[in-house]
Amino acid sequence: MMEQAAPNSHLTNHRRLPVLDETGFVQLRDYEGELNPAEWESMEYVDWKSGGDTNFAPIASALGAMECAGFWDHGKSDKDGVWTENAEICPTLVKWAENIGARYGRVRVIKLEPSTSYEYAVSCLHQDDNNRLNPESEPWVVRAWLNLTDDTDSYMIVREGKDDAASERHIPLRKGAQFVVDTQRLWHAVYHKGDKPRYALIVSFESGDDLQKWIDSQSVN
Ligand SMILES: [Fe+2]
Repeated sequence: MMEQAAPNSHLTNHRRLPVLDETGFVQLRDYEGELNPAEWESMEYVDWKSGGDTNFAPIASALGAMECAGFWDHGKSDKDGVWTENAEICPTLVKWAENIGARYGRVRVIKLEPSTSYEYAVSCLHQDDNNRLNPESEPWVVRAWLNLTDDTDSYMIVREGKDDAASERHIPLRKGAQFVVDTQRLWHAVYHKGDKPRYALIVSFESGDDLQKWIDSQSVN
């Protein structure tokens, strides 16, 4: 299934972080801890299509089941995720998500097969549906990434509009790359040039004071 937010659903009055105002994303320092491939290679993946040929390992879901469905299926916004059985296999990834200190929803590892071309990756551009059922009295939900494999030739393409090539920016995907993206505002997809799957941890976070504090602590400046 291809995830796709409803048109203009990013135009709301939720609280947002000023650090994301200008470009919709922020590149942070690389993760400095150890990453153990056994954690993501031994987890259970489910078939779930988003932005290319993908599978996902759910680590936290709406109710703790091994599923990737939107939390709205269970009457929740994308917050207060519940750990699945995969969480026991990946303590480093669980700790990374918890250490940020912000309210999290979906926690997943994406396994992305190599892209056939840049044009194919562009055809996969989409906006995420992160804020369905999120009341405007609470902060906007964005996503944070930790790239797990060393995909130095690959990058995430982000654009303000699907066909707005002038706004295109590239986010590098080396091992340990950390970044935060407003993926309901930005159209995005990864151009993965490698010959092996790319793995990355993706976590939905409420973008309030706690997330800002973590961003400040990981800032490259
Ligand atoms: Fe997405």
